Amino acid sequence: MTKERLKSPRARLFVALDLPDEIREEIGEWGKEALADPALRPIPTESLHITLAFLGYRPEKEIERIAEIVRESAGPAPLVELLDPEQRPPRGRARLFALPALSPGTEMLQAGLEQRLVEEGFYEPEKRPFWPHLTVARVRPEARGAKRAAIVSDPPGKLPEGLKEPFLGVRLALYRSELQPTGARYVPLAQIELPGAGRQ
Ligand code: 2AM
Repeated sequence: MTKERLKSPRARLFVALDLPDEIREEIGEWGKEALADPALRPIPTESLHITLAFLGYRPEKEIERIAEIVRESAGPAPLVELLDPEQRPPRGRARLFALPALSPGTEMLQAGLEQRLVEEGFYEPEKRPFWPHLTVARVRPEARGAKRAAIVSDPPGKLPEGLKEPFLGVRLALYRSELQPTGARYVPLAQIELPGAGRQ
C-alpha cells in the first residue's frame, strides 16, 4: 500500500432500508417502557433502520460510485413485517435487542445490492446469511470501558399488535456512521425513494 493510500480519508459506510416515520415513532413510543431498563441504550427514533450491507471504512473517493450502485439497486418498496424482540447473541448476556423482519422483498433488494457491491469490490459478503432486523437497543458495558455487557433484568416484551401490521419500506439510504462517545450518528449521503412507498 502506498503512503498516499494510507493517508486517504475514509468513511464508515452502510446501506440501509429506511422505515416510515410513523413506524419509527410507534417503536419509539413502545420503547419508552419496553426499553427502560437502565442497562439498555435505546436507538434514537431517527436512527432506526434495517441494515442491508455494512461496508466498514472505505476511501471517501468511493462514495460517489457506491451511491450510484445503491441507486441502481432500487426496486419496488418491500413489504415488511416486524416480529417480537430477540436478543443477540441468542444465549448468554445480550449485546443488543432487535426486531427480526419478515420481508422477502427486503431479502431480494439486499441480494441485488450485495451482488453489485461485491462485483465492484466495495463489499465482502458476511459469512452468515442475511438476517433482516431492526436493532432497537444496545446493552451498555458492565463497567466503564468493560468488554462484557451489563445484565438486563427487564428485557423488552412483545410488540403491540399495531406494530405487527405489515408496512412498506420507504427508501434505500447510504449512511456514514460517525462514532461518538454518546453513540453513533448516521449521516445520509444518498437517499433513494422506492416506488410504491407511501401507498398501502
Ligand atoms: P446492528 O444494528 O445489527 O448492530 C451501523 O453500524 C449499522 O450497520 C447497524 O445497523 C449495524 O447492525 C450494522 N452492522 C452490520 N455489521 C456491522 C459491523 N461489523 N460493525 C458495525 N455495524 C455493523
